[in-house]
Amino acid sequence: MDKVSISSAFAKKRTVWIKTFGCQMNYHDSERILSHLQEINFTQTDDPATADLILFNTCAIRDLANSKFYSGLGEIKKIKGGRPDLLVGIAGCISQTDGEELLKKYKHLDFAFGTDTIDQINEMIYRLYQGEHKIFSNSQDNRSNYSIETKITHGSLQAFVNIIKGCNNFCSYCIVPFTRGREKSRKIAEVVADVRNLVLTKNIQEVTLLGQNVNSFGKENGENLSQLILELEKIEGLRLLRYTTSHPKDLSDELISVYKVASKLSNHLHLPIQSGSDSVLKRMNRGHDTAHYINLIQKIRSLRPDIVISTDIIVGFPNETEEEYQATIDFIEKMQFDFIYSYAFSARQGTKAAQMADSLSEDLRNRRLVLLQNVQVEIQRAIRAALVGKHFVMLLEGSNSKNGIKKWFGRTSCHRLVHVKMEDDNSNYQWKWVEVEIISTTPHSCQGKFIKFC
Ligand code: SAH
Ligand code: SF4
Ligand code: F3S
Repeated sequence: MDKVSISSAFAKKRTVWIKTFGCQMNYHDSERILSHLQEINFTQTDDPATADLILFNTCAIRDLANSKFYSGLGEIKKIKGGRPDLLVGIAGCISQTDGEELLKKYKHLDFAFGTDTIDQINEMIYRLYQGEHKIFSNSQDNRSNYSIETKITHGSLQAFVNIIKGCNNFCSYCIVPFTRGREKSRKIAEVVADVRNLVLTKNIQEVTLLGQNVNSFGKENGENLSQLILELEKIEGLRLLRYTTSHPKDLSDELISVYKVASKLSNHLHLPIQSGSDSVLKRMNRGHDTAHYINLIQKIRSLRPDIVISTDIIVGFPNETEEEYQATIDFIEKMQFDFIYSYAFSARQGTKAAQMADSLSEDLRNRRLVLLQNVQVEIQRAIRAALVGKHFVMLLEGSNSKNGIKKWFGRTSCHRLVHVKMEDDNSNYQWKWVEVEIISTTPHSCQGKFIKFC
């Protein structure tokens, strides 16, 4: 490609197709990537065949996420064959650890970058248009100060705001500390200014604070999550505040006490336990047992009796015995979680658990997973059914039509999905706050009746 100046290199309008795998953090990063690309004249397309740039934002958490990415990458090879000007890149967690190797292995990959070099994307694209090949950048940000401004490309009233990155916990099964590096927090003053700006300039009304372990927020700066929540609570115009994900080991009494006073704080807490067996929790290096977890829930419930709790479970951890597995089934029956994200253990190269001797077959892991999910569905069926007649306030996020009936949907403060039929099918109700009454339920969602706007 001819050498061209920056401005003429980006004078042309171009399109980017981006495929994101994994957690909220990765979706948040994709948003950031798109926002940078907008500055150099790229708009998003949903057609990879005509895109000028194809990007995969990858996830390494389990085999399934990995294999979906590899099959996607294979598909793109055909497109790239007939389009030499097309750029193909990878970002995210697989790219952080394996990007260099993948660049060598896959001829049709032009560049790869890691989780800490997102803000260099435009420079990388420029260098590629200048004729450089196979660019790789996965350096970790070693500055002690973690400072970013939230970038938003969509017209939503909801925003994800990253407050801490990385994880120091090294749960024995987990790849995240290797792909995202050590914990580093933004300062409270910066996050507050960022959120205030989002509220004022983008009309953001619902904010989800993001981090791999938000309960560790601020440690290195002598600050904490409870202080941040109390500051954000004061922002006029902000209506709902969520945070994810929490670690039971680090959920402090101070944070629990915030539930008493912070009226904007969501009535839902996602608190992953991972296993109901104390011996498995030990092998997982979780740093807490089930008694600690139960104690936390009791303390929160004493302040917010109707708070909704959800969790993550991994079944089939190396050498999980029948008794250990049964302890998890007993635990979820006892705790009556509102919903659960459940997974079969997937060995991740480089983690401690991947080196443990393991007698379990994939088949057994999968059977244990299905059985656990069946138990949980029945729990959810009963929990949801008991909601009939209750009223909730929620923000309408979108609509869909089934059997010719158009319904709008949203999530309550307690994170329950509710569908509601509105009066006029031709009106746009997106981003309206409404009160609904639950009229029927399934294990996964609720049907509501519109009561009023609020
Ligand atoms: N930081 C969050 C989420 C981490 S990843 C937390 O600590 O809760 C999201 C979930 O993926 C984890 O909670 C865990 O349940 C699951 N997970 C992580 N590594 C896994 C592995 N190797 N196999 C199966 N599930 C895994
Ligand atoms: Fe992984 Fe554990 Fe860190 Fe969560 S807390 S990201 S499961 S190491
Ligand atoms: Fe996956 Fe990385 Fe998130 S491994 S779950 S994208 S932190």
